[in-house]
Amino acid sequence: MKKRILIVLLALLAVATTTARQKLVKVETDQLSLVFSVGDNGRLYQSYFGKKLTHDSDYDHLKNGVEAYLTHGMEDYFEPALHVDHADNNSSTLLKYVSHETSTLANGAKRTMVILKDDKYPTTVKLFFDAYAKQNVISTHTEITNGEKKTVMLRKFASSLLSFNRSKYVLTEYSGDWANEVNMSETELNFGKKVLDTKLGSRASMFMPSFFQVSMDKSASETEGEVLVGTLAWTGNYQFTFEVDQHHRLRVLSGINPYFSDYNLKSGETFTTPEFIFSYSYNGRGEASRNFHSWARKYRVNKGEETRMTLLNNWEATYFDFNEDKLVNLMDDAVKLGVDMFLLDDGWFANKHPRNSDTQGLGDWEENEKKLPHKVSYLCEQAAKKGIKFGIWIEPEMVNPKSELYEKHPDWVIHLPNRDEYYFRNQLVLDLSNPKVVDYVWSVIDNLMTKYPDIAFFKWDCNSPITNIYSNYLKDKQTHLYIEYVRGLYEVLNRVHNKYPNLPMMLCSGGSGRIDYEALKYFTEYWPSDNTDPIERIYIQYGYSSVYPSKVQCAHVTTWNRDASMKFKVDVASMGKLGFDIKLSDMKEDEIKFCQEAIKNYNRLKPVILDGDMYRLVSPYSGNHASTMMVDGSKDKAVVFAFNIHPRYSEHLLPVKLQGLDPNKTYSVKEINRMGGWPVEADGKTYSGEYLMNVGLNLFGTGKLKSHVLEIVAQ
Ligand code: GLA
Repeated sequence: MKKRILIVLLALLAVATTTARQKLVKVETDQLSLVFSVGDNGRLYQSYFGKKLTHDSDYDHLKNGVEAYLTHGMEDYFEPALHVDHADNNSSTLLKYVSHETSTLANGAKRTMVILKDDKYPTTVKLFFDAYAKQNVISTHTEITNGEKKTVMLRKFASSLLSFNRSKYVLTEYSGDWANEVNMSETELNFGKKVLDTKLGSRASMFMPSFFQVSMDKSASETEGEVLVGTLAWTGNYQFTFEVDQHHRLRVLSGINPYFSDYNLKSGETFTTPEFIFSYSYNGRGEASRNFHSWARKYRVNKGEETRMTLLNNWEATYFDFNEDKLVNLMDDAVKLGVDMFLLDDGWFANKHPRNSDTQGLGDWEENEKKLPHKVSYLCEQAAKKGIKFGIWIEPEMVNPKSELYEKHPDWVIHLPNRDEYYFRNQLVLDLSNPKVVDYVWSVIDNLMTKYPDIAFFKWDCNSPITNIYSNYLKDKQTHLYIEYVRGLYEVLNRVHNKYPNLPMMLCSGGSGRIDYEALKYFTEYWPSDNTDPIERIYIQYGYSSVYPSKVQCAHVTTWNRDASMKFKVDVASMGKLGFDIKLSDMKEDEIKFCQEAIKNYNRLKPVILDGDMYRLVSPYSGNHASTMMVDGSKDKAVVFAFNIHPRYSEHLLPVKLQGLDPNKTYSVKEINRMGGWPVEADGKTYSGEYLMNVGLNLFGTGKLKSHVLEIVAQ
């Protein structure tokens, strides 16, 4: 009897606790707490975003703050996260907290799901927060369900809304263009809105990739200051709105760009937004980037914890002008260099309209009989004989008007029925909202893989934004096209991933017109820029490293910038996923020898360069030099890269202080990738980690375009 009473009492206590705690929703990583609370009016508010609060009793003191998922039609003072036109044309939504629950995902992340419901309409919104404790990364997304009997119209459907209350907000954005990607600039955010977005559709990130940083109170340095780094995992139009209100609070609204994307949500249907993924650091930008890098390798990137192949690509060596002999000679170059793979680029296909330039042939994925009379199988055989892998370029979402595909299926193309076509790089985009086109695009890859199972790699290109926007398939739902296009693309990529799980693929988009963390579920790497001038690459690789690890950044040595030495080029490219896009006949004998050695060094150091923690020691934006280092998890091995870019005569040169080492370990320093000249003074010496991090090494000089690479090993 007593036992029974005790059980009842315990049960009652449990219910009471749940009720009290239901008022608070806590999302936590090892360092961060994001807390929501339910107001007396039943609505959900963000009460706290900051350092982890460890005393449970403190949570009760938190005030409500800013509404967690602001809706249109109520207090319309600020940009809403959600705008729904209900079936009766009422466009207001008022969301009230219903419940929340936590669970553990298969990958170990802790998921918090909060259910909100409109009190007058059967509209349900679920907010998801997946917390990756150790990496201090949170991924958020939203599900919006239409419980009405009729279709409703979604006009705004953000993935996430976060708010901050700080003295100052400094936004870092990454703008650019083809061959001039990710230029970092800072703006202080003051009252009003700053919007970063794209309307380019397929090559969505051509002017700006979908990530940003916001420093709190003051511009964060690499090692100091608080910084939010965020990115949208969506391979299409995105929008970030930074809005500062009259109380100087900042709202960061992230999601698909609602531009021309009103979405008819049928009765019973659920709209799932893409993930907004963010990390927050109290110790500067470097830590925030490392958080992203280790999260990406462990949880996100396709084969994120596996190694990468070095390669020789024929694009800049031949452009469209090649035949079998030339390609086989280049394979010999690849073997001589010592890389893992030969990658055949654009120009190998189409017969009626041969692909001898970028004006025709896209869409006709049969080997060009003149260039490849013995088909791709011959190339695979040759590569196998020479002991290297074979990879191939495709651009399966696109079509040249001068192609058999266009002649047969003009209705598969995104273009306006009653207007002249407008071309970007002489091509148009296929309509991936149409399931038949999805099947076709999938068949391009599947046919190649079925015929030539030895293909070991794809470079998947995408050289045009969506222009002339109109889908013959979508009829009266034209505003679905930007979204359905991306979903169609994911359908193809899913099929590829499921049938060919071991196939590595590079995501390319005329340089980096396309890169995000949803695409990287399928791709093993991406092409950051067509600009391979090593000086420019120092800046470009630096910018992308804000969120993407070196493992996914393809970096090729080419003939761009004839003033730079082969050593300088190889050293820059060795900070990423190393490749070559050059023919050996363009190189001198000593350069070839140097490359052979450098590739051996790279192969030995790959685990450190690609999987280690990256420390950006000296920013190229800060002056005339740059330096980056990578340290392995055990702090036993490190690689340091140092570059003189445009040093000035008699410049005041400072030592480079290393980071991430163990102060108590003793390290030997060896300069590698040497090609003439004097070694750095530290070469062959040993130092404590403490010395290397506090005193530093003299790695910079006044010689233009000079570089040094150091291998550092604990004794
Ligand atoms: C794009 C890519 C290049 C190359 C060409 C081929 O521009 O970025 O690397 O593949 O297409 O046409």
